[in-house]
Amino acid sequence: MRSHYCGHVNESHIGTEVSLCGWVHRRRDHGGVIFVDLRDREGLVQLVFAPERHDVFVLAERIRSEYVLRAVGKVRARPAGTVNPDLATGKIEIDVESLEILNSAETPPFQIGDDTISEDTRLRYRYIDLRRPEIQKHLRMRHHVTRAMRQYLDQNGFVDVETPMLTKATPEGARDYLVPSRTHEGSFFALPQSPQIFKQLLMISGLDRYYQIVRCFRDEDLRADRQPEFTQLDIETSFLDEQQITGMMEDMIRHLFAEVSEVALPKQFPRMTYAEAMRRYGSDKPDLRIPLEMVDVKDLMVGVDFKVFSEPAKDPKGRVTALRVPKGGELSRKEIDDYTAYVAQFGAKGLAYIKVNERAKGRDGLQSPILKFLPDAAVAAILERTGAEDGDLIFFGAGNGRMVSDSLGNLRLKIGHDRGLVERGWKPLWVVEFPMFEWDEDEKRWVALHHPFTAPVAEDVPLLDSDPGACRSRAYDMVLNGTEVGGGSVRIHRQEVQQDVFKLLGIDEQQQQEKFGFLLDALKFGAPPHGGIAFGLDRLVMLMTGSQSIREVIAFPKTQTAHCPLTNAPTPVAERQLRELHIRVRAPEAKKP
Ligand code: AMO
Ligand code: AMP
Repeated sequence: MRSHYCGHVNESHIGTEVSLCGWVHRRRDHGGVIFVDLRDREGLVQLVFAPERHDVFVLAERIRSEYVLRAVGKVRARPAGTVNPDLATGKIEIDVESLEILNSAETPPFQIGDDTISEDTRLRYRYIDLRRPEIQKHLRMRHHVTRAMRQYLDQNGFVDVETPMLTKATPEGARDYLVPSRTHEGSFFALPQSPQIFKQLLMISGLDRYYQIVRCFRDEDLRADRQPEFTQLDIETSFLDEQQITGMMEDMIRHLFAEVSEVALPKQFPRMTYAEAMRRYGSDKPDLRIPLEMVDVKDLMVGVDFKVFSEPAKDPKGRVTALRVPKGGELSRKEIDDYTAYVAQFGAKGLAYIKVNERAKGRDGLQSPILKFLPDAAVAAILERTGAEDGDLIFFGAGNGRMVSDSLGNLRLKIGHDRGLVERGWKPLWVVEFPMFEWDEDEKRWVALHHPFTAPVAEDVPLLDSDPGACRSRAYDMVLNGTEVGGGSVRIHRQEVQQDVFKLLGIDEQQQQEKFGFLLDALKFGAPPHGGIAFGLDRLVMLMTGSQSIREVIAFPKTQTAHCPLTNAPTPVAERQLRELHIRVRAPEAKKP
């Protein structure tokens, strides 16, 4: 049927006969000669149909976009002046001697690669959209990534084990997808948000090193880097501490980048505590490609005559911080207003600033709506601490610590992108020593920052009783260019500690038994110290392919509203099916008189 891929034919084949199969990318009629770009997964090649070969020519006149062809002919050099330098096969063409139309095609709803088409339409005809060479490249890169992962893990003694899809809820923090049981009336399976508990059980079973490339399901609000079903590289090990686990995992990621992208990542990834990341970057996933940093000035503002700054300065939970923008003096009034509106969405009530025109002139060299509120010493200290130079601008955030970190952390990213400050290349790091718990203001209770199976730092264990908010965990996140690509922790392997943590999270003994009784039981039967991590495969491949969304690296993704335009899932089902599942069909609401 086929001797070569279209995209592989080159000058070395000149004079030989080839047989090619593929799709009609484009057909052009040029004064009696028909040209067809034939496309397969390896690329395009130009077919030429001359009128002298009448039978073939008549057939060629019938072909349209996306017809499937088999063409046999001689490879020849393109005439001088018609060489296409943009095409790998641009120096040659095929003089077609025989042609078979293997299948016709209706006019496609859009041209392959037309990027003015809405995503909804592209996903509806995803099988056509997937003919784009770019997205085929992504899917193949994804394959190379998983191949390199398996290779590394196999060499390091990890065993690939499958875990159930029909299971019980695990508290990964999102809503569950539920599956009603036909055989157990009124009961439901949950699709796993991750295999977290099963992989811990495998450690208790003595597997020692487990991995799985596994689908996870989370019913949460979707964003560019989130899907309701996504894929993790899930890993668990026994008898290793966090240094050893993170060391091995960054080695794996280095292997991956070297193997797949020929990129040499740093020999050692920097490690930063959560507290430092929040202080310097206002984020637990800092993008280190952007050279801007926040500098706290809280201590300078305690006594100033400006409540916006002095009140948070006196509040233990408050934060007052400065962000220097090099050459930010050139920002216009309108740009500053736009940034003020930008931070407002994170709760900031304003965005004070100082323009540093001429530092040597003292106050007279500065321009700012808040200058009048600040004593000389404070102003001098701000300039000193931020290292401001002539032409710079300093933004300020003041208020609740979390809000200030959030707003200035995001402002930092926005300004970095707007002003072209994002360095090229790869900036991985580990963020470590996350707090164990976070206070949920709405629900008035502690929630686990990672998940409830994460072990506390040994010296902080006494804080579980006295000051849970100050208790640090043995969790770690791998961050790459501002994206959290993976997260994990050393786990609790003692039953009493696990129960204490559950209690702290407001899960009473009865609930503990109902939800996690099987884990608490298992912890009593010789659980080894263990820990692990899960990487977001989609996110990793998104970064490696330079894509803007994980939908660009998933063959059949869902839309932002968790809908599949291709199959139209989710769809209503027949009443009979619901009855079988013991789901009562709600009668249509009676019309009010
Ligand atoms: P976590 O919840 O941090 O940890 O998830 C691990 C990684 O999975 C990716 N990720 C997602 N990717 C796409 N769409 C989503 N909706 C989505 N949610 C998460 C992220 C994240 O870093 N069981 C623990 C891991 C462990 O402790 O070993 C867990 O699932 O890249
Ligand atoms: P006002 O006195 O309210 O006009 O504020 C003076 C300046 O402080 C303006 O530039 C405001 O944008 C700014 N500002 C107000 N609230 C905050 C805040 N919470 N953080 C930073 N700047 C603020």
